[in-house]
Amino acid sequence: MAYQWDSSLETGYEKVDNQHKQLIAALNNIIEASTSGKGEAEIFKTLDFLTGYTIMHFADEEKLQVKYDYPDYLIHKRIHDDFKVTVGELTARLRNEGPSEELVGVVTSAVGSWLLNHIKGDDFRMAAFVKAHEVG
Ligand SMILES: [Fe+2]
Ligand SMILES: [Fe+2]
Repeated sequence: MAYQWDSSLETGYEKVDNQHKQLIAALNNIIEASTSGKGEAEIFKTLDFLTGYTIMHFADEEKLQVKYDYPDYLIHKRIHDDFKVTVGELTARLRNEGPSEELVGVVTSAVGSWLLNHIKGDDFRMAAFVKAHEVG
């Protein structure tokens, strides 16, 4: 089942919100590639895109936190780093076991629920801080 963007995911920091929308779209592309039977190559292509986009997005958020001396920077970065490891492990599992629709469903649910939780908690707190300390 596809993920939907709605205002409960809006941190109010536009650049971050736009990237979150892209992450959700990328996640939906994997689900779509799997359920429409597009084949392994396409599934891994969409998965590689999500992985690359996630790494870029985390780096952008971390830069923002450093720029504004965000007090929870190290904690937030650690959460990102742990999730990158998790994504690597899930990808390895898909490569080893093959991207069956069932396993793709397990992986996308795990990634999706992590993402929504992280946005609504850690990212909301970060965005509120950055907005309050933004200059100009
Ligand atoms: Fe984020
Ligand atoms: Fe984050």
